[in-house]
Amino acid sequence: MCGIIGYTGGKQAAPVLLKGLERLEYRGYDSAGIAVINNGNINAIKTAGKISALAEKTDGGSKLTGTTGIGHTRWATHGAPSDVNSHPHLSENGEFAVVHNGIIENFAELKSELTAHDVHFTSDTDSEVIAQLLQYLYDGDMIRTLRKAVTRLIGSYAIGIIHAYSPDTVFAVRKDNPLVVGLGSNENFIASDFAAALEYTHDFVQLDDGDIAKLTPRAVTFYDANGKSAVKTPYRVDWDISQAEKDGYPHFMLKEIYEQPKAITNTVRPRVKGNEIVLDRIQFDAGNVNRIERIDIVGCGSAYHAGIVGKHFMEKYCRIRVNCELASEYIYSDPITDCRTLTLVISQSGETADTLAALRLAKKRGSHTIAIVNVMESAIARDADDVLYTYAGPEIAVATTKGYTTQVAALYLIGLKIAKIKHTVSDARYNELLKELLDMPKKIEVLLSDISDIKSYAEKFSDRKCVFFIGRGTDYAASLEGALKLKEISYIHAEAYAAGELKHGTISLIEKGTATLALITQSDLYTKMLSNIKAVQSRDGTVVAVSSQANTKISETADGMLVIPVCDDDVTPILTAVTLQLFAYYTAFERGCDIDKPRNLAKSVTVE
Ligand code: G6P
Repeated sequence: MCGIIGYTGGKQAAPVLLKGLERLEYRGYDSAGIAVINNGNINAIKTAGKISALAEKTDGGSKLTGTTGIGHTRWATHGAPSDVNSHPHLSENGEFAVVHNGIIENFAELKSELTAHDVHFTSDTDSEVIAQLLQYLYDGDMIRTLRKAVTRLIGSYAIGIIHAYSPDTVFAVRKDNPLVVGLGSNENFIASDFAAALEYTHDFVQLDDGDIAKLTPRAVTFYDANGKSAVKTPYRVDWDISQAEKDGYPHFMLKEIYEQPKAITNTVRPRVKGNEIVLDRIQFDAGNVNRIERIDIVGCGSAYHAGIVGKHFMEKYCRIRVNCELASEYIYSDPITDCRTLTLVISQSGETADTLAALRLAKKRGSHTIAIVNVMESAIARDADDVLYTYAGPEIAVATTKGYTTQVAALYLIGLKIAKIKHTVSDARYNELLKELLDMPKKIEVLLSDISDIKSYAEKFSDRKCVFFIGRGTDYAASLEGALKLKEISYIHAEAYAAGELKHGTISLIEKGTATLALITQSDLYTKMLSNIKAVQSRDGTVVAVSSQANTKISETADGMLVIPVCDDDVTPILTAVTLQLFAYYTAFERGCDIDKPRNLAKSVTVE
């Protein structure tokens, strides 16, 4: 969702801001703008549409002179995407410019209050109220004014501000929305995430809720919610900026699909010492593991789907009941949870608003929380009792790929660890599964070495109106993710169904031309799945099976086959995921879709 960048230093700010905005493009946006201070005046240029349009309108930034400024990519919530609704928003007197990510829930009340004091608004956004409020409250001291302003704001926000009479200074404040401060050499940054400033620095500070930061080129001062100056400890991000570039691939999504062998290696390998699983600093021992009566897994989108795969694995091997919940449902379900429930919160970005709210609720009710997160020092990683990072590296494409498969791998590690402690898995089986996990990167490489069949089925099905994905057990869990991937990026209607449920309704939708991908990787369910395939074919549907060569009968029955390398049944969802990611990618490619930035979607969903 919205992206924020701010700069103060020795360079011309506008080109730096434009570059930063490009790095934030992946978050999803529909308009963009920048504002720069020049000799006590704030000049802003904004536009609906792409950053490239903004770059054109500003002549690569050269139309805005000055070394301090803020920029924004907007994902519309209040008010249509348009030039005037784009950020930065200026106060009526032009002295304050504001960029905002989040939602000001009481903006209507504040707007009427300010309008009654003769303040004139120009946009339909909730965010403009912040700029107008700052102007209205300004008492000559920016920190005091900011503190007063935030006490009036209800909702969630990350805000960057420049003030015409505070030369060389960028201010920032946050609550429930991501914002980092990048510490450079004689230059400093604010950004929604560190990718925007990684080119200039690897040292960052996370702002906590209520914190205010004041940045000048040579110093950054932090104030806590009470206005007291606060000491913050920077952390170093060792991601390389080249990891956030396409590196010759036509899309980030394809690059990230191909990065999965490395991402899984980085996630699994450091946690396996001999045949022991050591989950960083997470303390799992007989005492706390045997107290776990239930595991709740919470996430959104693909993270939720990873959770469903994890549920199958954990229930089988840990013999603990596992509930997998959508975070947006969990938070309003009055969840029954306490210290006997372990809550696993999954999020690639670590910033998803619903998932963060779910984590806080679970914690408040006494549950022990472990976050499975990719982005270091993100809100979810920081708030959870424990964190297990997936070392997938930066993920730029909106539709997650390596983020998802590393989440699944992390869940397998946690499941195996708990099962070993509980003695609910035999030593032999534990060793087999661990070996399978360690071998997984090689199997993905084999899969990626020949994708011609995937490409040709993607081409063949790219004109379909609807594609079904069916499977049983863990294959059904994997189907959910396959269907989501296809609809996200190709805009083809796709649905996943538990194969056994087809006959209870969905089969009425099967007609000549309906394409179905049937996942068949579970040996004990082969025969049942073969019957389901036949049932679809009897209604003139076309079925392509996703399976390994180990099951010879499938190629005789299905209309086609996408072969995955032979693999233990219990960990195949990683391999089927890679196949279905590629299927979605090439289908979307064939249809000419904007694969990395699908319409209406955002990578980091920071509003509920
Ligand atoms: C968005 C993304 C999805 C992602 C979901 C959860 O909808 O487009 O790919 O699965 O958010 O994101 P998270 O960062 O919490 O894993």
